[in-house]
Amino acid sequence: LASIEINMSDIPEGQTKTFEWRGKPVFVKHRTKAEIAKEKAVPVADLRHPQHDDERVQKDEWSVVIGVCTHLGCVPIANAGDFGGYYCPCHGSHYDASGRIRKGPAPLNLHVPAYSFKDTTIVIG
Ligand code: FES
Repeated sequence: LASIEINMSDIPEGQTKTFEWRGKPVFVKHRTKAEIAKEKAVPVADLRHPQHDDERVQKDEWSVVIGVCTHLGCVPIANAGDFGGYYCPCHGSHYDASGRIRKGPAPLNLHVPAYSFKDTTIVIG
């Protein structure tokens, strides 16, 4: 499928769900107020791949990323790791709740796919 539609009501606040899009996993995270505040406050200069959270989300409550580790391509585990986002068990990369690399060997943040909001859905692709 060129694009997929995800019902936002299927993902309660605080949860992350995985969908398949063009043969790759996509993580859709419904972030809590605390998670949003934490990610907004991270000093960009401290990051290996410097991106403010604002550059990575369209609506603060929703983070959408491709679930492929930027190290060697394993699929990270959602809601795991030291930074409240994702943990890649292959070689120990930790990503935050914005999908940014924070610790471990991965060089780049998790990629953000093209997506848009339509009524009560998120359209990926
Ligand atoms: Fe994820 Fe190596 S593939 S840490």
